[in-house]
Amino acid sequence: MFMILTKNDIEAMGRIERLNLVNSLTGPKPANLIGTIDREGNPNLAIFNSVVHIGSHPALMGFILRPAGDVRRHTHENIRATGVFTINSVGVEVIAGAHYSSAKFDAEVNEFTECGFTEEYLPDFPAPFVAESRLKIGLAFDSELPIPSNGTSLIIGRIEHVMMDDSLFAPDGKLDFESYDAAAVSGLNTYYSVTKKAVFPFAHPGKFPETLNEKKV
Ligand SMILES: Cc1cc2nc3c(=O)[nH]c(=O)nc-3n(C[C@H](O)[C@H](O)[C@H](O)COP(=O)(O)O)c2cc1C
Repeated sequence: MFMILTKNDIEAMGRIERLNLVNSLTGPKPANLIGTIDREGNPNLAIFNSVVHIGSHPALMGFILRPAGDVRRHTHENIRATGVFTINSVGVEVIAGAHYSSAKFDAEVNEFTECGFTEEYLPDFPAPFVAESRLKIGLAFDSELPIPSNGTSLIIGRIEHVMMDDSLFAPDGKLDFESYDAAAVSGLNTYYSVTKKAVFPFAHPGKFPETLNEKKV
């Protein structure tokens, strides 16, 4: 049996149930911590599940920022103030601290220390990286695209730095997440680990893909 929910069913749901359902519909997404700093030098860290690749030339990444509402969005304010931010991949061993970073801490609270992480800096790049992360990206703010239907926006950054564990980098430029144990998150509180299943060649019509590795799906 398949359950069918119509638009009206979804609209009739309670706020939390609807939020949980719609947030889960895209499936597990990468868990990332976004690091920023304000003009006074206070670092800020928060978890985001909406990080996406926008394009590789120029190298761009982005994420969806929820509407401010009555609470301040420190990540947004800091990016607008300093023009830089970092995206740090979350390993499964630090999911509790990463999740804790979503709490509404006051601006003066250092979420790095509060959530069990360590700040790391590159010369001439003010935004803090997460030392514990095995893949971290430094970005310069590029643009903000408002999404009129719900007041969210897509924040786009240009990739300026990529720092990663040596074991991640494969000779063809792909990252090998097999040994990495990166966390994925479904909805807003359920964390998964990811496992490599197959590598396929570029797809062409008329040639059903066969795996390039020994693992069969
Ligand atoms: C798993 C998870 C994923 C989240 N993803 C996003 C997201 O993609 N966009 C967003 O605006 N907030 C997201 N949040 C909420 C932020 O983490 C939260 O609002 C945080 O307090 C923002 O911190 P800031 O005020 O320092 O920017 C997410 C929360 C959780 C628990």
